[in-house]
Amino acid sequence: MKHPKVMARMRQEIKEVLGNEPPTMQHIRQLTYTKQVIDESLRLYPPAWVIGRQALAPDEIGGFRIKKGDVVLIPIYAMHRHEAFWPDPERFAPERFTSEAVKARAKFSYLPFGGGQRICIGQSFAMMEMQIALVMLVRSFEFELVEGQEIEAEPLITLRPKTGIWVKKL
Ligand code: HEM
Repeated sequence: MKHPKVMARMRQEIKEVLGNEPPTMQHIRQLTYTKQVIDESLRLYPPAWVIGRQALAPDEIGGFRIKKGDVVLIPIYAMHRHEAFWPDPERFAPERFTSEAVKARAKFSYLPFGGGQRICIGQSFAMMEMQIALVMLVRSFEFELVEGQEIEAEPLITLRPKTGIWVKKL
């Protein structure tokens, strides 16, 4: 296991909030640390790792001239690991997503669901699904990574693990 302390804290939260009850929206709202774990996972591995826009008119962004029709790519993966926003950016640290830490950061430094007018319409639904799936997995099993595998991210239309992530049940 790569982050046993994070796992232990999440297990504890799930135990305290849910016990053995099936998860409801009421529970989900209280799972603040579990949500931070998901937020931090989406920072390091944003499924939508790059999005694009086509310029309707000439513009200038940060000194770069953009012509009408140019395609501008927004490199979400790179922004999520940019030192200007994320100290020690490669480190997995769910505490980056306490409400105080989020408030202190530039609004558009974190874009797993995009931003502005075209922000993901399914954001809340996706977060709820991820929380339910994680809660059920963590509560039902003790598991750890199969040793010796090389986990490589593959940037297709979405970012995914190239050969899956193998875990074994303890
Ligand atoms: C972890 C899961 C998901 C991620 C990371 C994600 C990410 C995104 C991102 C980054 C965008 C913005 C694209 C852009 O600006 O070019 C987007 C848009 C969109 N997403 Fe998601 N999404 C997720 C789940 C879902 C789900 C579950 C639904 C539907 C139930 C959904 C429906 C949409 C729709 C309809 C748009 C287009 C919105 C518009 O252009 O007005 N997404 N999503």
